[in-house]
Amino acid sequence: MTLLAPSILSADFARLDDQVSAAEAAGADWIHVDVMDGRFVPNITMGFVVVEALRTVTRLPLDVHLMIAEPERYVERFVAAGADGVTIHAEATPHVHRALQLIRLAGARAGLAVNPATPLDWFEDVLDELDLALLMSVNPGFGGQKFIPRSLERLERLASLRERINPEARIEVDGGVGPANAAELVRRGADVLVAGSAVFNDRASIAQNLRALRDAVQN
Ligand code: DX5
Ligand code: ZN
Repeated sequence: MTLLAPSILSADFARLDDQVSAAEAAGADWIHVDVMDGRFVPNITMGFVVVEALRTVTRLPLDVHLMIAEPERYVERFVAAGADGVTIHAEATPHVHRALQLIRLAGARAGLAVNPATPLDWFEDVLDELDLALLMSVNPGFGGQKFIPRSLERLERLASLRERINPEARIEVDGGVGPANAAELVRRGADVLVAGSAVFNDRASIAQNLRALRDAVQN
């Protein structure tokens, strides 16, 4: 079954508790938490205290996406704060393998993300030690960007790498995901869909938006 992971980056932070509870009630599978440091990406968002606070308001797994330089310095603290999965970026450190080991040792699911122009070769040597492979379908840093079409073909290649190296690993797609492309992404191998602006927006309620995504995936 495809997992839906609303990204709270597009939520109303003054009402984060309500928004996360609404997503949970509407059938979200994971809560995706985008951590940005203003260095690896040109934006700053949230850190440990927000993950700790989220842990007290939802039972859903917290899927923490670290868009920070030198993530190996912080992964254990994010697990201690309540992360169920921690995803680091291949471009963010020379110590990818060490960082992934630290995440698993701390007791969380280990994820590796790649930017749109990063060769998928990265996954060849680490997929067997991964629980999650995250394919960025926009440049990391901001919500509400347009899906990069080339990501579809990359997703297919990643899916065949996964079949060959580690069929247990999940593939997550992040950026520009919505009802219009969700089914296509699942068809090409995505197991987890991250959606920020498609879930948290003024056009419809969180429940309506999640329903539209779920319907798209099921059709
Ligand atoms: C982008 C973040 C995404 C973002 C997705 O850097 O990693 O998780 O919230 O937002 P949408 O779904 O609006 O593209
Ligand atoms: Zn993300």
